[in-house]
Amino acid sequence: MDKRHENNEAFLRVNPFLRDVGIPDDLRDIIFSIAHAGKYVAHSIRNGSLGYAHSENPSGEDQLALDVVADKIFCEHLNSTCRVGTFASEEQEAEVKITCSDGQHYAVAFDPLDGSSLVSANFAIGTIFGIYAGDQFLGKKGREMVAAGYILYGPRTLLVVATEKGMWEFTENGIGEFVLSRENIVVEPDAKYFAPGNLRALAERSDYEKLFLHWAKTPLTLRYSGGMVPDIHMIISKGSGIFCYPGHSAYPNGKLRLLYECAPFAYLIEKAGGVAKDEFGVNILDKEIKTLHHRSSILIGSKNEVEQALSFLNKK
Ligand code: F6P
Repeated sequence: MDKRHENNEAFLRVNPFLRDVGIPDDLRDIIFSIAHAGKYVAHSIRNGSLGYAHSENPSGEDQLALDVVADKIFCEHLNSTCRVGTFASEEQEAEVKITCSDGQHYAVAFDPLDGSSLVSANFAIGTIFGIYAGDQFLGKKGREMVAAGYILYGPRTLLVVATEKGMWEFTENGIGEFVLSRENIVVEPDAKYFAPGNLRALAERSDYEKLFLHWAKTPLTLRYSGGMVPDIHMIISKGSGIFCYPGHSAYPNGKLRLLYECAPFAYLIEKAGGVAKDEFGVNILDKEIKTLHHRSSILIGSKNEVEQALSFLNKK
């Protein structure tokens, strides 16, 4: 059973808390700098321009002004920790090397503002990150991460982070501090909620159509916003559920990025007792990162539901 801390009853701030649970100083500095950057991004979401930046990201998608601002904020913060030797942003084509005097033993991959097109509807959006030891991403597997997490910008701003020591949720308390709000987070094997991404694939995939109709006829409840961060946070917060994004002709391997989106969430969900696989049953954390913008299909959440869903897909 997870433990919730209401009304700052615990008042455990992220930085001293991570020190007390034994996270090494350099890794803790990186997580803290990401949390710090998240506060500026939350401020920009509330007060900045919601318009287009008149530029495209490496995947050819139109960038919002907020995508560009969020990317800049995270780059600046990661640069100034002097703990990160390499970073890669979903908004940039290539990875960036940083030279600094301190030991730089980590590589950080991040999606600065996932689901940003939802911001004009005032829906929740988020930042996703994965931290690797060493100075590269290519050839690695998600299982080699030393920490992963996300920031959810919704009615409240939350930071959820997992390391080998555990998984915790921190809530921004209105005066710029992230305080512990949940620990011992568990995702149960059976799902109560389903979040079916890429429903346009139903037009060409009878296997996915069968799975969708199966879900629609079970007591499972549909909860889907179109933003990966809030949609997976729904599973993490309720302790059960499944999210999927299978491929179709426009994106045969699925649309979501292995390095920036799928692997960090797979790390978090496994830490909570769930699982993440691609639509052929390969564990997301065992997939080698072949390019920075490598895409993968994904089914993620409650273990039994992921297996059940897989039994529908890619069958004749
Ligand atoms: O990758 C960005 C993203 O917005 C995810 O947050 C979300 O799950 C997915 O794309 C939605 O994709 P689509 O717009 O194809 O439904």
